[in-house]
Amino acid sequence: MAGRIKDEDVTYIRDHSPIDDVVADYVQLKNAGGGQKKGLCPFHDEKSPSFHVTPSKGYFHCFGCQVGGDVIAFIMKLEHLTFTETVERLADRIGYTLRYEAGGVSTGPSINRSRLVAANTAASNFYQEQLQLPAAQHGRDFLTKRGFDRDAAKNFNVGYAPDEWDGLYKELKGKGFTDEELNLAGLVKEGSKGGMIDRYRNRLIWPVKDISGDVVGFGARKLASDEVDTGPKYLNSPETPVYKKNAILYGLDMAKKEIAKSRQVVIVEGYTDVMAAHLAGVTTAVATCGTAFGDEHIRIIRRLLMDADAFRGEVIFTFDGDAAGQKAALRAFEDDQKFVAQTFVAVEPNGMDPCELRQAHGDDAVRNLVARRVPLFEFAIKSVIANYDITAAEGRVNALNQVAPLIGRIRDASLRPEYVRLLAGWLGMEVDIVSTAVKRSGKPADAQSDKRVNLTDPVMVLEREVLKVKLQLPTMAHSWVDLEPAAFSFPLYAELRTLIDNQKEFSTQDLLEKCEGEDLKSLITELTVEPIRTDGEVSDRYITSIFARLREVALSRSIAEIKSTLQRLNPVENDAQYQEIFGQLVGMEAARRVQKELALGES
Ligand code: GTP
Ligand code: MN
Repeated sequence: MAGRIKDEDVTYIRDHSPIDDVVADYVQLKNAGGGQKKGLCPFHDEKSPSFHVTPSKGYFHCFGCQVGGDVIAFIMKLEHLTFTETVERLADRIGYTLRYEAGGVSTGPSINRSRLVAANTAASNFYQEQLQLPAAQHGRDFLTKRGFDRDAAKNFNVGYAPDEWDGLYKELKGKGFTDEELNLAGLVKEGSKGGMIDRYRNRLIWPVKDISGDVVGFGARKLASDEVDTGPKYLNSPETPVYKKNAILYGLDMAKKEIAKSRQVVIVEGYTDVMAAHLAGVTTAVATCGTAFGDEHIRIIRRLLMDADAFRGEVIFTFDGDAAGQKAALRAFEDDQKFVAQTFVAVEPNGMDPCELRQAHGDDAVRNLVARRVPLFEFAIKSVIANYDITAAEGRVNALNQVAPLIGRIRDASLRPEYVRLLAGWLGMEVDIVSTAVKRSGKPADAQSDKRVNLTDPVMVLEREVLKVKLQLPTMAHSWVDLEPAAFSFPLYAELRTLIDNQKEFSTQDLLEKCEGEDLKSLITELTVEPIRTDGEVSDRYITSIFARLREVALSRSIAEIKSTLQRLNPVENDAQYQEIFGQLVGMEAARRVQKELALGES
């Protein structure tokens, strides 16, 4: 441990680190009158600010979670640093060299935040120098190919890790850093033959800075072919005391002011995308570093977007339009949805990322991409619809069945009717039908069954299935015309069948207009949207089988009736009639056998 920091230096640091300045790196503060400022508390989740700062006294206090203290306590709590680390960090911030009490249990310099940041900064300088050397020609070529000139590379401190085992290690040892420090900073690792070797070799290097601009880690892109370098395309820093990947956003140090000012943050995928966006004028762009955008990232962003009384602003994701991006978007319906209404997606139709877009079409195209953002819900719903051919009735109904539960899951009740209307428009369906689909999708299975429906009755289920196929997939309901007159045993179902058969041409809309009675009307919308009970896609085979099964059941009913009629007839007195009915019975039994085989799929 290094010795104690001199008390007078601690006092000096406290007095020269204005609390509102320091806090402003993390929290957007507004004047609250009476010489106070307030913002969203960084220590607990809240929507309206109870976090107060009194600059004149140098104190903060949150009335929501009761956390408070001076500027040192603030950094200690927020960054999970020790007292000494915190004071060292605040000293770095104002360029002050601390003095330590002599003596104590000093066993060499302590490893603290400022040493690790210093090591990272020295490494970054080394890498930047390396990029200028002849051996880095391929690295410079890569940047040129991505549309980044010398100035761009310089502005973002891009560097090059030489193709050597210990170039960086030797350099930093020469600057007085210990093995332990370099290892802890994630810059070197133990080689297989013992001894330390550089973590990154023959890679382009992006220094990653924390919100206050300290270099805390690196992203390193492979330059050699996969045969030569079997490592991943991008190597990111390991977790270190100063690099927590879940709480790091690349570019945030540059973007934070503009994010707070314009109330907008653009989340892109990688280092090159952040560069491209900033160069194109989208100066609110940040990226995670080789990890998914998570809760901690959200919290960081929220604090910046906070204004006097609420979270306002837009979070814009430039997702890939590919499967992964769509999956990510669909998660929007599962998460707590707190900020979903403020979340937007900007997707380039050809799947280009901002870096590629800028190369292909220039700076304007990147700015336009962001300007053409769509709300996250809309994006997610449309990516589901895109899986269906909605020019066909079947496709529309299947798409509706997939999307309705999503809209049902939108927590903000005032948004649901809006999306019902939008969905009706996107699908070209009646608002009524979409609305019914959404309403029933939100209810648990047994709440759906009202007095008319007993879903444990297999015959009722079967009759419903056949009606659903007829309503939802009319072109696949080939055997509808062959159904026995008494095929439907439940009165309301039989009524619907009659209504359908009285139509000249099948159309759900026409049915709804013609039908009398609310029960029938609601049955129609209900069966139009209730998912057909099959795993996966509805197949011809499935449809054939349920129609055959319905006919088999209907024929069985008729056969039972005929048999009881025959029992009541005297074959001697009514021979002709008996023979005729008996003939019918034989025909029905033959027909039933056929349907039974069809139902079992054995034809
Ligand atoms: P280039 O292909 O180099 O032009 O860049 P790119 O930024 O378009 O690469 P890509 O879209 O593949 O990656 C975007 C981001 O994902 C990168 O900036 C990295 O942070 C991360 N990433 C990509 N590949 C890997 C990998 O193999 N491992 C890890 N951990 N992260 C990666
Ligand atoms: Mn990319």
